Amino acid sequence: MTVTTDTNTRIADLRAAATEAAVTATATDRTRAGSAAPDLPFDVVPLSGNIGAELRGLDLRTLDDAQIAAIRSAWLHYKVVFFPGQDLTPSEHLAFARRFGEPTEGHPVIPGLADQPEVFEIDYSAARQLAAAYGKIGGISRGLHWHTDVTFVQRPPLGSILRAVVVPAAGGDTLFSNQEAALADLSPALQGFLGTLTAVHDGEDQFRAILDLVGEGHWEGKSFTRLESVEHPVVRTHPETGRRSLFVNPGFTTRIKELEIAESDALLAFLYQHSVSPEFTVRYHWQPGTVAFWDNRATQHAVTGDFGDAHRVIQRVTLRGDEPR
Ligand code: SIN
Repeated sequence: MTVTTDTNTRIADLRAAATEAAVTATATDRTRAGSAAPDLPFDVVPLSGNIGAELRGLDLRTLDDAQIAAIRSAWLHYKVVFFPGQDLTPSEHLAFARRFGEPTEGHPVIPGLADQPEVFEIDYSAARQLAAAYGKIGGISRGLHWHTDVTFVQRPPLGSILRAVVVPAAGGDTLFSNQEAALADLSPALQGFLGTLTAVHDGEDQFRAILDLVGEGHWEGKSFTRLESVEHPVVRTHPETGRRSLFVNPGFTTRIKELEIAESDALLAFLYQHSVSPEFTVRYHWQPGTVAFWDNRATQHAVTGDFGDAHRVIQRVTLRGDEPR
């Protein structure tokens, strides 16, 4: 190809425009983990460049208000924090959760523990038996089943607090992905477009079989026999930090309302892949008793399906959230 003076001028113009766009993006939304790490009165061990930290040397049963405030600021910054070396009972787990908000029902469809209904247990062996008997249900995927907790309701939980109860001898790690970093990594043009879109979220596919089995679900004090789909913005603004994040997940998002089905499928497939790119994630290896607390407004997570038939049990408390905006 002969490169003419006109072509050279055009290339120079394009380079200048690209540089300007990159500078603008850097100045606005292309920050990664976001604000500077807070100065905290306990040991903090960051686990990746973008998300996750261990907070060490704390006993979650005996925290004062200043420690709770410091944990909240670490949680907002790191998006998922882990507390190794804990040994909580379900009621101590619930008491710790109450320091950060109001616990929800254990799960909209799956009943919680008999004597502690706000505590939702997943015994992965029992889930497999249920799946064998009743077909596809949530939480049994052998592969990576990325999701954000309970986005198929109008007000999804603001955060989840998980206690590792039975940990397999090998495998069973959980991955978390930072959805603010995932959004910030996209071009300003795509970020702008995504900000105009609405996504439909639906729990029917995953939970219909269990809902039929248990008869009725419960959320925010109301009972229901079928799950209605809900709509949330594709990009949400965090009510505490003001930061924007991607808010679609392959667990529950079924389509983008404003687009044709083929367009919606293609865009969601791209976002699902992009939003869990390794650079936005952390992988956590559990020890029995470890507690994790994640910000459900800015993350997705997935359990690795690599523990064969080994026993794995977690208990989880979720905190009441607001309507994503
Ligand atoms: C969950 O999806 O909330 C459970 C995560 C886990 O079992 O590690």
